[in-house]
Amino acid sequence: MKIAILGGTGNIGKGFALRWGQMHEIIIGSRDLEKAEAVAAEYNEVLEKYGHMATITGTDNRTAAEKADIIVVAIRYSQLGPVMEMIRPFIENKIIISVVVPMEKNMCYISPGAKHLTVPIESKEFNSEYFCFSMPEAGSAAQEIQKMLPDNAELVAAFHTVPAKKLADLEMELDYDIGVCGNSMYSKEIVFGLVNDISNMRPLDVGPLETAAMIESLTPLLINVAARNEMKDISLKFI
Ligand SMILES: NC(=O)c1ccc[n+]([C@@H]2O[C@H](COP(=O)([O-])OP(=O)(O)OC[C@H]3O[C@@H](n4cnc5c(N)ncnc54)[C@H](OP(=O)(O)O)[C@@H]3O)[C@@H](O)[C@H]2O)c1
Repeated sequence: MKIAILGGTGNIGKGFALRWGQMHEIIIGSRDLEKAEAVAAEYNEVLEKYGHMATITGTDNRTAAEKADIIVVAIRYSQLGPVMEMIRPFIENKIIISVVVPMEKNMCYISPGAKHLTVPIESKEFNSEYFCFSMPEAGSAAQEIQKMLPDNAELVAAFHTVPAKKLADLEMELDYDIGVCGNSMYSKEIVFGLVNDISNMRPLDVGPLETAAMIESLTPLLINVAARNEMKDISLKFI
């Protein structure tokens, strides 16, 4: 399959390119053609080291979207608008995959609390950072993206809970479950296949696009749990 990764020069784009570049034709999209070409060459070098044919190419986001059958939107939520508007005329009858998580960092005050209790504990006051899901007007990033698509493009939301670093590390077996949302069973099945293409990942049907907020909001949860419990780049498995 021909897969364009818009924002493919970024953190999560790299992992998709390296994983799917082993069996699909990958086109890295960027705002900057030369940057895309340089990054594609870098990804090809990595794949060659692992004994794979290196055929990843790089171009501008518009051309990438125009050339591909499947378009992965791997850009931050706040930066989406102009890119989606630019590619809109070129994505009719195509499958769009949103991995976008609208989230923001907040700060709150944590007090030592319970000073009156008789059990003495060591605790301090501090300002604590945490991430939270920043719900867009439509309910989720996927539903916002849906509004920016032509009627005959099919949107699937997936991969929100995959940590970029581990995805890009080809030594890592990713024993993760991937929630997939969308309103077209055909497009969801294509995405299930792309999930299955990545080591031990398992696709799970979460429901229609209206359920996308549920999987998008798992990402800030994972980041908060990791930060507070000396864990790194964690993901999800349903057991
Ligand atoms: N990082 C993760 O672990 C992870 C996991 C799951 C989902 N996600 C989601 O994936 C998306 C990308 O995350 P990321 O961490 O990969 O982001 P990132 O590395 O910060 O950015 C991705 C790419 O966006 C492009 N970009 C930067 N500013 C832009 C602008 N103003 N307009 C258009 N494009 C711009 C850049 O490409 P060019 O400079 O080449 O144009 C950049 O390489 C986000 O929506 C995030 O929520 C991330």
